[in-house]
Amino acid sequence: MWIKKYAPKSLKEFANQKEGVEKFLKWYNNWKKNKKPCLIYGPPGVGKTCFVYAFANDKNLEVIELNASDFRDADTLRRILGSAVSQGTLSGKEKIFLIDEIDGISGKEDRGGLAELLKILPNSKNPVVFTANDAWDPKLRAIREICELIEFKKIGVRDMEKVLKQILFKEGIEYEEGVIKQIALRNEGDLRGAINDLEIIARGKKKITIKDLEHIGYREREQKIFDTIKIIFKTKTIRGARFAIMSSDKDPEEILWWVENNIFNEYEKPEEIAKAFEVLAKADIFRRRIALRQNWRLLVYMIDLISSVAVCKKNVYRKFTKYQYPDRLKILSLTKLERELEKEKLEKLAKKLHCSTRKIKTEYLPYLKLI
Ligand SMILES: Nc1ncnc2c1ncn2[C@@H]1O[C@H](COP(=O)(O)OP(=O)(O)O)[C@@H](O)[C@H]1O
Ligand SMILES: [Mg+2]
Repeated sequence: MWIKKYAPKSLKEFANQKEGVEKFLKWYNNWKKNKKPCLIYGPPGVGKTCFVYAFANDKNLEVIELNASDFRDADTLRRILGSAVSQGTLSGKEKIFLIDEIDGISGKEDRGGLAELLKILPNSKNPVVFTANDAWDPKLRAIREICELIEFKKIGVRDMEKVLKQILFKEGIEYEEGVIKQIALRNEGDLRGAINDLEIIARGKKKITIKDLEHIGYREREQKIFDTIKIIFKTKTIRGARFAIMSSDKDPEEILWWVENNIFNEYEKPEEIAKAFEVLAKADIFRRRIALRQNWRLLVYMIDLISSVAVCKKNVYRKFTKYQYPDRLKILSLTKLERELEKEKLEKLAKKLHCSTRKIKTEYLPYLKLI
């Protein structure tokens, strides 16, 4: 698998996590003094496990991974952790212990092993690294309290793209512009997921195209709307947001619903949220006017007002937001079949009666029903 084949062999190949890595190095250098274990936490696929191996490789350390079965029996545990550096290793290398995914060790598997571990830790002869997805899991309280906490964050789109392109380069595979970005965006900071997706579509190929993404359930249209929404929320200028709306393949009305549904997901300060909804409400007034009077010249005002949501924030939120599909569009798509059937019938009638479908719906149908 490519995630194994291209796992970083050295910190030089390790992407992102600058802060986390710095904190880790500091922790490691101080370890002899305070013997504190550390807990690397963060979402899946951001390099928690492979980081420890890359680091160990650089430092010529031996990684000893403990798993759930080692926790079953306290004696084994004590022996492993308590053994001196020089003992028990054939290579003579210094060791580092890795207890991966500690939050995954269930109560049943644990059988008091964790409690034992906590007792042994202060006397450990070697540094111990825990990893977990969620450091705030109540189960981990005791561990959290004794550990140096090190956060690994979601990996940024650009860093993900860099890693993915590097892999394609080494595999000798060409790519159409945009494919890599889509994969990176879609995986929302999870590099493992991104590499796996890439492998599925690219393995054994000479070149990959946007169309290949369909195999793994990517729909191009939705991707584009995610990009558009992201720009509107992350840019600092109305012009930037307007450009995103104008170059989207969705109509401005649909974008309006997307923005409406995601203001809460992106903005955090009440005054920003209030301001954003206010300009959006004004955009909505124009939407109605356009629909009622078919006055498309008003569209530019609607677009400008939607774009103004961009400047309702004081600072750009440097976070990954999971943008949600608008509820309103969900309902519309659920009733799509129904509406299409209705439209079909209306069009048949319109042909026979020589008038608009709208006239039939509002003026004729009520009487037809009575008759
Ligand atoms: N920061 C990173 N730099 C380079 N490769 C990474 C990084 N994060 C993840 N990967 C790739 O993704 C795979 C899975 O990462 P892993 O360390 O198992 O994630 P985690 O333990 O956080 O779930 C690795 O084998 C590697 O190929
Ligand atoms: Mg892991």
